[in-house]
Amino acid sequence: MLVLGVESSCDETSVSIVRDGKEVLSNVINSQIKIHEKFGGVVPEVASRHHVYQVSMVFEEAFKVANVKPEDIDLVAVTEGPGLIGSLLVGLNAAKTFAMMYNKPIIGVHHLAGHIYANAIEHEMKFPCIALLVSGGNTELVYMKKHFSFEILGETLDDAVGEAYDKVARVVGLPYPGGPHVDRLAHLGKDTYKLPRVYLDDGSYNFSFSGLKSAVINLKHNADQRNETIDVNDLCASFQASVTEVLVRKTIALCKEKNVKNIIVAGGVSANKGLKERFLDEACEFNVCIPSIKYCTDNAAMIAVAGYYQIKEIPHYDDLSLNAIASIELEDKYPNN
Ligand code: KG4
Repeated sequence: MLVLGVESSCDETSVSIVRDGKEVLSNVINSQIKIHEKFGGVVPEVASRHHVYQVSMVFEEAFKVANVKPEDIDLVAVTEGPGLIGSLLVGLNAAKTFAMMYNKPIIGVHHLAGHIYANAIEHEMKFPCIALLVSGGNTELVYMKKHFSFEILGETLDDAVGEAYDKVARVVGLPYPGGPHVDRLAHLGKDTYKLPRVYLDDGSYNFSFSGLKSAVINLKHNADQRNETIDVNDLCASFQASVTEVLVRKTIALCKEKNVKNIIVAGGVSANKGLKERFLDEACEFNVCIPSIKYCTDNAAMIAVAGYYQIKEIPHYDDLSLNAIASIELEDKYPNN
């Protein structure tokens, strides 16, 4: 089965062709990072316009790289949400146009289901499992008893973890998106600054990162006022130690409570080396799946793969009235599973 995946929820225009949910024939990603870098974050209107400029070329390139014809596609899977509405609409309309032109079935896929199923490209997903979703917009612990069954058991009550990374990076003068830079510098420093571990032992599976973020900002501002220098590498290492300790400890605690042996880490922050190292160190009794870096951040292969499993589990096709949704929970998109 050849699935065409289309993803445009934020600042990446991506089209991919995947055979049988595993073999990635193409995964073309046009990233706008350079464009948004000067603003220190994604500017939604600029992002939508750039998707419009790029989308046809990205489609063409995906077919060229995969060396397949549009007629060969069996299913179109497109991100319907959550995301920036203008950005989503561009990919969605391109996907619908393709489906209409070539008379192909189409389904809308939840963006976070895509991140979770990025793991199915290189690993075998085993159930039941706990998925730790960590991205620029989300931080959630999700219980999956089988394919396409999502129960959110914990989430951030304020900032998403990727958002906290990006804000901390900005305060210490690193470019956008800050996550990869903080991760790199963290490996050059030591956990010397005392930073809070918010909600570490509160017995819940919720997270909070705004207090940690404010602690870093205050530390930096206080040092600036006293004309003291901060060791940026040590500060990044201390921030990363706090974040990864809370994420890993809570994931393991939830696995123990639910008697689950399989952990899936997904979303842009799953590219974090510190997080991977801590999981490997502390969760050795669990089977931990983390995608390789190219599938961690937004890409259309993950949407094609999710589409492949979605249609097997939920045999429902959408029609051309399929619309973009800026905000929707996994549990609401897939309620009866
Ligand atoms: O999943 P994603 O590509 O986009 C969505 O939010 O949907 O995630 C982007 C986020 C950004 O906040 C970025 O800073 C973060 O993932 N990120 C990282 C790393 N690579 C990307 N955060 C920490 N360490 C990394 N290595």
